[in-house]
Amino acid sequence: MTTSPADEHDKTERKPLSNILESLAGNGSDEQRIETALLLGDRALAALNSGIVITDAQQSDYPIIDCNPAFEHLTGYGRDEVLGRNCRFLQGPETNQEARAVLRAALLDKQECRVTILNYRKDGTPFWNDLAIAPVRNEQGQLTHFIGIQTDVTSRKQLEAELREQTETITIINHVGQALAAELDLHNVVQLVTEAATDLTGAQVGAFFYNVPTAGHELFTLYALAGVAQEVFAEIPLPRDTPMFGPTFRGEGVMRLDDVRNDPRYGQNPPHLGLPAGHPPVTSYMAVPVISRSKEVLGGLFFGHTEVGIFTERVERIVVGLAAMAAIAMDNARLYEQSQQAIRLRDAFLASASHELRTPITTLLGNTELLQRRAIREQSLSARDQRTLQSIAEQAYRLNELAELVLDLSLLQTDLLELDPQRVDLRALAQRALARVGTNNMPGRLQLSVPEQPVIVSADERRLIQALHQVLRNALAYSPTGSPITVRIEQDANTALIVMSDQGIGIPESELDFVFQRSYRGSNIDIRHVSGLGMGLFFVKEIITRHGGMIEVQSSEGSGSIFTMQLPLAE
Ligand SMILES: Cc1cc2nc3c(=O)[nH]c(=O)nc-3n(C[C@H](O)[C@H](O)[C@H](O)COP(=O)(O)O)c2cc1C
Repeated sequence: MTTSPADEHDKTERKPLSNILESLAGNGSDEQRIETALLLGDRALAALNSGIVITDAQQSDYPIIDCNPAFEHLTGYGRDEVLGRNCRFLQGPETNQEARAVLRAALLDKQECRVTILNYRKDGTPFWNDLAIAPVRNEQGQLTHFIGIQTDVTSRKQLEAELREQTETITIINHVGQALAAELDLHNVVQLVTEAATDLTGAQVGAFFYNVPTAGHELFTLYALAGVAQEVFAEIPLPRDTPMFGPTFRGEGVMRLDDVRNDPRYGQNPPHLGLPAGHPPVTSYMAVPVISRSKEVLGGLFFGHTEVGIFTERVERIVVGLAAMAAIAMDNARLYEQSQQAIRLRDAFLASASHELRTPITTLLGNTELLQRRAIREQSLSARDQRTLQSIAEQAYRLNELAELVLDLSLLQTDLLELDPQRVDLRALAQRALARVGTNNMPGRLQLSVPEQPVIVSADERRLIQALHQVLRNALAYSPTGSPITVRIEQDANTALIVMSDQGIGIPESELDFVFQRSYRGSNIDIRHVSGLGMGLFFVKEIITRHGGMIEVQSSEGSGSIFTMQLPLAE
């Protein structure tokens, strides 16, 4: 009987394993025990789920000298077909070459190694092979064989890939969700969603078309594109009401087609009867309507790919979710734009209304003062009528101030309030602000303390007086008649300070953070007796801030407030 080199190696190779198995083989003659041990070994190899190959390390290119049934089962090759061959016949066109290089280097170094490599069965189907290779040495330490153990890990790899894909999807959706929540510009919203959806679907081209049902022109407006340059669509007419696009713009659900050319709705629209010239080629097609809260179809997200069957059901579900997010963000962006427009209209109206009001008020004021002077000169009015006239004058002043405040607020809002800064001495400026408060206050109620040296700041005098006056008016309005109100001017190295204190009703502690906000009115104010717009301190803060300064308040309810304004000293 002739023995093949494989048989020779079979015997030497089995020695270490047979030693173990021999000890398991029990009593009997040497021959019987070896026989039993070999049988046990064969059974063990046969029972394994993993494939095992043994290659001869002393022959060139390491031919296979044995394999177990699991190897045959795994690869689809019979034992006879593989004996004498190098294992690389399992590799194919998509085999990951990095793993192959790792194998080559380890074998060259006679080292063990483990890789996951893409292999192909005899029928051509690919599988992921978790391959562990170990060198086998004889008693003299010489390399004689390599043993390879193959395990099919395709399903694990698929799970890993799905998990990776899902993680990526969640990351993108998370990112889009956050970005959309912060985005109020309609175009940015749509662009963001189009890009993310194109990314997630694996589409080559993605677009959002805005639904504009303009009478006569049945065209929709291209809003955002991803994966292709804007110019590509610039010249292409895009009809809205066709069998292909109509359902999306009527919000009739998702269209997901593996091959658009096989769909009866495709190619029916003259003159192109298919894709117009210049349109990127599309085979896989998906269109998802974007529908607002009020059920209005805002537009559609469209995706294309040149290959067949690209868009899966899973991808469809994701894009439907994205479209819902997009609809909310678009609704919000539109509401925001509408509210901005309303604010612009309001400010324009307030500016012109207050402007218009000032002319008659000025005439009213001028004539009242004229009457007052004449009455004094000519002694023509009774004391009672003089008081009435004085009351008319005071209310006309107040009206004038209110019209001025409204005008200034609209200038602030539209960023048209301009300052004309000059070098001014804060001491004189504070005096003028105090004087403007009026003569009706009890003498001595307003106390001004100023340093001996001038305190020079760079300020728009009219605006700063307006601001100080406003704080003073509040102090007067919200403190008991006759209680003192003090104004202190100070300066340190770089800063001028204006500190105004009153002993009024104070501000509730929980409201201190809102004092300078638009429309704030203290909850402890009796609004039946003290009227106001709640805009005064907002205006003061704006004026002080625009002078490079800051304002803060300390207050305790029931015992008064201290407003401290800081302004940079002039250079
Ligand atoms: C014992 C043994 C088992 C092997 N099993 C596989 C296998 O299952 N799949 C595979 O792709 N390569 C396997 N190889 C590796 C290839 O035979 C080869 O060594 C590898 O492709 C690197 O060499 P190359 O670049 O010359 O092809 C095995 C190698 C040995 C020694």
